[in-house]
Amino acid sequence: MNHLSELQVDDQGRLKHLLALQDLSEDHLITILQLATHFLEQQQQSNSSLLLANKKVINLFFEQSTRTRTSFELAAKQLGAHVVNFNVGFSSAKKGETLIDMAHTLESMQPDLLIVRHPSGGAAEFLAKHICGNTAIINAGDGCHEHPSQGLLDLFTICQHKSNLEELCVVIVGDILHSRVARSQIYAFTTMGISDIRVVAPKTLTPALVEKLGVRVFDDLNFGIKNVDVILALRLQSERMQGIYIPSKEEYHRLYGITVEKLALAKPDAIVMHPGPLNREVEIASAVADGPQSLILQQVTYGIAVRMAIMALLLNPEGVL
Ligand code: NCD
Repeated sequence: MNHLSELQVDDQGRLKHLLALQDLSEDHLITILQLATHFLEQQQQSNSSLLLANKKVINLFFEQSTRTRTSFELAAKQLGAHVVNFNVGFSSAKKGETLIDMAHTLESMQPDLLIVRHPSGGAAEFLAKHICGNTAIINAGDGCHEHPSQGLLDLFTICQHKSNLEELCVVIVGDILHSRVARSQIYAFTTMGISDIRVVAPKTLTPALVEKLGVRVFDDLNFGIKNVDVILALRLQSERMQGIYIPSKEEYHRLYGITVEKLALAKPDAIVMHPGPLNREVEIASAVADGPQSLILQQVTYGIAVRMAIMALLLNPEGVL
């Protein structure tokens, strides 16, 4: 076991934090998927279970986010938790407070769960190491590193719409280099035994040695998308780019955009996903994003059930297992 696994899973194999999907076991992934199925059914029947009654949850976001923060907030409230949104934009982090000082301040408030989004890779892990007591940490996206709850909801979406994971062919298209979502997706898919995982990106947006993660690398979308069952489109993460990686957005769309013509090269029943926010007519054409094969809005709905599953498992395992 590496350092990160030791931090997020205890001696009895119980999940203490959700920091990354790298090295998270298949058993843990399956448990989360099963719980999410349960919560999705509950949501559809308008039932609720107050598994997190009286628990204190703090959303600590150092980056702008609407959908992920709201999704966590809805999920926590649906389970009966008290949720506070800690708006770092107006907080002392802007006044020079270090992450460690902030960690100790938050620790004194004795939250049961801290949901952290931060522009630096490793920030959630850092907090997990430094906050004592019983506070669980969920990484809601750290720099270009990981975004485990998004990887899990993408896996859940695939499982809801496709059977026989081992036989699936999945392609991730876009800015792989700067994408924390791509990394979490690759770890989840390889752990679950999806045998054909492809990444498609211009060479400038393909991380060195990415094939070591167990994926096939293409720089031509016409080949990479051929006969796939699942297409995951990613946004160009311009806010993380230092320099010029593509000649123009128009050319990028022509070569790497998921258009109706490109989609026709995939299997006829292929599904299309995107974590949002969308840049229409850049990484995805509106005709595809709004078309019959798109699951983009379903992903948002599933995201709440998956986040309920993660939180229930972290804060009340006896209540759900
Ligand atoms: C992703 C993120 O923040 O990494 N979005 C999200 O969680 N809703 C992907 C992105 O920003 O492109």
